[in-house]
Amino acid sequence: MKRMLLLNGPNLNLLGTREPDVYGHDTLASIEEEVAAYGASKGVAVDCFQSNHEGVLIDRLHEARPCYDGIVYNPGAHTHYSYALRDAVASIGLPVVEVHLSDIEAREPFRALSVIAPVCVAQIKGKGKAGYKEAIDVLLGYADRTAS
Ligand code: DQA
Repeated sequence: MKRMLLLNGPNLNLLGTREPDVYGHDTLASIEEEVAAYGASKGVAVDCFQSNHEGVLIDRLHEARPCYDGIVYNPGAHTHYSYALRDAVASIGLPVVEVHLSDIEAREPFRALSVIAPVCVAQIKGKGKAGYKEAIDVLLGYADRTAS
């Protein structure tokens, strides 16, 4: 069975009550449950982790190195400025798909730039929670392509 990590950054613990017009009404726990069930239906065990702290997220990425076939990552606001998280993603040698619930290019100008996307295998934005499931499919496709 393949193993993937669903990683969420700052403020995503508040999903469900945080700007529901932008991010929807689902809580992070319910999204994690749905994504884990979707993963299981595709033969993927999904572990979930969220933190509001840059260093904790960096440590989790480092620890992921020997354990996972890929990472689904919503870096929240870190997306737009954290070179430390970008370097962590680049350092671990695992495929990472960056996911955003909202369409970051259609919002405030500062959100249009992701400093992390260039070291990810794909970026999915504006599809709500469905984006997390799509990211699992992208990582499965990536694993197939790199195996052959
Ligand atoms: C987000 C978009 C970011 O700009 C924002 O800071 C978030 C959530 C998204 O999922 O749409 O926290 O990553």
